[in-house]
Order: sequence, then C-alpha cells, then structure tokens
Amino acid sequence: MFDFDAFTFESPPALPCSLGSLAAGSGRRVLIVDDEPLLLDHLNRMLGGQFDCQFATNGEEALRLIRSGQRFSVVLADLCMPGMNGVQLLGKIQEESPEVVRILITGSGDVDTALRGLHEGAIYRFLQKPCSNENVVAAIEDGILRHRRKATLRIDRERAQFAMQASKGFNALLEERLDQAQYSTVFALAKLAEERDDCTGKHLERVSTFCRELAIGLLEAGHYVDQIDDRFIRDIERSAILHDIGKVGIPDSILLKPGKLTAEEWEVMRKHPQIGAETIAAIMHANPSSSVLRMGYDVALNHHEMWDGSGYGQGLVGENIPLAARILKVADCYDALTTIRPYKKPWTHADAIAHIVRGGETEFDPIVAATLRRIGSLIEALRLSLADDVKAAG
Ligand SMILES: [Fe+2]
Ligand SMILES: [Fe+2]
Repeated sequence: MFDFDAFTFESPPALPCSLGSLAAGSGRRVLIVDDEPLLLDHLNRMLGGQFDCQFATNGEEALRLIRSGQRFSVVLADLCMPGMNGVQLLGKIQEESPEVVRILITGSGDVDTALRGLHEGAIYRFLQKPCSNENVVAAIEDGILRHRRKATLRIDRERAQFAMQASKGFNALLEERLDQAQYSTVFALAKLAEERDDCTGKHLERVSTFCRELAIGLLEAGHYVDQIDDRFIRDIERSAILHDIGKVGIPDSILLKPGKLTAEEWEVMRKHPQIGAETIAAIMHANPSSSVLRMGYDVALNHHEMWDGSGYGQGLVGENIPLAARILKVADCYDALTTIRPYKKPWTHADAIAHIVRGGETEFDPIVAATLRRIGSLIEALRLSLADDVKAAG
C-alpha cells in the first residue's frame, strides 16, 4: 500500500510539450490497483486531472477490466493485496496484454520480490514507498511514453509485414498475369499447330490430362519426389499441349502427307522439336522465370528422345532427358496408340499399355511406363470421357 503521508498535494510538474500533446489522447489511460479505497480516492484526486484513471481494488477485478476490452497504457499495482498479489497480477497482464506497461508499488521490505518480478519481465519499474506525487506522476508519464514507443514499434512492424505481404501478393499476381499472357500466346500457337494437323481431335486435352495424372501417380508412389510438387503438376498439365508446337514450321506437304515420308522429309520433320523450343524461347525472353514456359521448352525440345538415347532432339539418354518430357512421351504415345489415325486402327487399352511397358527398356522411362500401367483404369476412364466427338482423331 502507499504511504499516505508521503504524498503531497502540490501541483504536478508541468508537462513538456511533447508529453502535453499526449494528454488529450486515449493513450493516457491508467489502471490503478490497490485494496485501500481511501488511497484510491486520494490517487484519483491527485492524478485524475492528468490521466484518464480507472481503479480496481483487487487483481481479479483488474483482470476483468482488461479482459473486457478496456485498453490501458499503464497499470500501477500495489504488491500487497489479498488474493492475487501485485507481481502475480502484473505477470498475468504481461501474458495477456504484453504492450501494457506495468509498474509495481512496494514497501521497503518487499524489494526482493519486486526485483524478481523485474527480472522475470513482469514489471517495467517499481516504486518504493514512501514515494512523492512527483515520482508517481513521472513514473506514469515515463510508462505512457514507453507504451507509445511499444505501440509505435508494433504498428511499424505490422505495417512492414503488411507491406511485405502485399508486395509478395502483388508480385505473384504480376508474375501470374505475365505467365498467363505469355501462355495464351503459346497456347494460340499450339492450337494453330493442332488445326494444321488435320486429325488430332482432343489429343492435346487428353495428353495434358494424362500427364497430370501420371505426375500425381509418380509422386504418390514416391518416385521423383525431388522434382514433382504441386507446381510441377500444374505446369506439366499446362505445358503438355506445347509438345508439337514446332509443327507450325513444317510444310503441309510433309505434315499432311498421307503416305510414308522420304528420308529427306523425315529430316525436315525431325526439326520440329527444335523449332518448337525456339518458338517458346522467343516468347520466354521477356519472362525467363516462367516455370510453365520453361517446362514447355523442355517438353517441346525433348519429347522425341528415347530412354536408350536413340531418339532425336538433343540425343539425351535416360534421366538426362527432362522428367516432364519423359512423362509427356508416355502420355502422347498412349493417346496416339488408342486413337484412330488415317494409317491405323485404334489399339485397345490393354495392348497400348503392354506396348509401352515393353518399351520401358528402350523407348520410355520404365518408372513412368509402370506408373501408366498402375493407374491404367483411371487413364482409360479419362480417355473415354475425353473421346473425340465426331471425327476420328489421333
Ligand atoms: Fe512431336
Ligand atoms: Fe502429340
């Protein structure tokens, strides 16, 4: 409890300008907790003109006020109170409202207790009885300033966090828009290439879907987990349609030739992976970080590579062939085999799977081929749901 006689009723010291300007704000709310009603009355008269004071006669009542949503800059609590003592009260306030500045009033024999509270961080400052009006007012003013600094720091931190999150979101949006704009361009080219290839039907749509499911199937079985994630799955579904984009650069006389190609014509045809990759690279120039276009580049350039190195594109072998291109090759082949082409009837699902699994030693990544077999019923259901409507396609 306060030493009543220690207080004088002199006028409090004049506030510096900067502090005076705070007086009008709600930041000068102070909660005073003491079990002596007379003392509270005295403090009310002494401090009421300078601070917006609220009073509580015990710790529980003080906590109720704080928990009800009332906001205080400073809590001034007496150490010796029945029930919850001052250190316990300030410890709870520290946990629940750490921004409130906590001041403890102690008697001379309680210094050890007060110091413990101080070291534990529950108390910002303690006042030892008897203390003068001046000291009490100065301690509260100091506490209000400290509270203001803490609040300002918190607001600055929150603003910085908000700005950082907003900036991240904005950048992601910009990147997504740029991605989308570039993808739209390449998608238009892919559709153009598809239109020229007279018999593709929903080939691109089916291959994209198969690629997505193969990537998910691989991940679920624990294969290539260092490469496959949500982004990879999204990107392969979108980039798969780009695999034959290079066909826009192949003359109709070769691309649409009904009969077998000559050796010279094959030479021209074998350039379409390179043409496709160069087309995508030109569009990627403005945004080299676009993951979907980067994958599209890999897929276009490498989709005719063979697992044993006998394919064309760059002549890569095994796992040197980008994973997206290995998945695409399996999906592309499955769709080509199971759909009708001018030169062949559609294969059954079982025959197509058997062929691809057999080719797992030479043509295809054996793990991807095995995954196709494992999720075969899903792939077949998707193929049937995406079957070409009118014209036989492949
Ligand atoms: Fe191709
Ligand atoms: Fe294809």
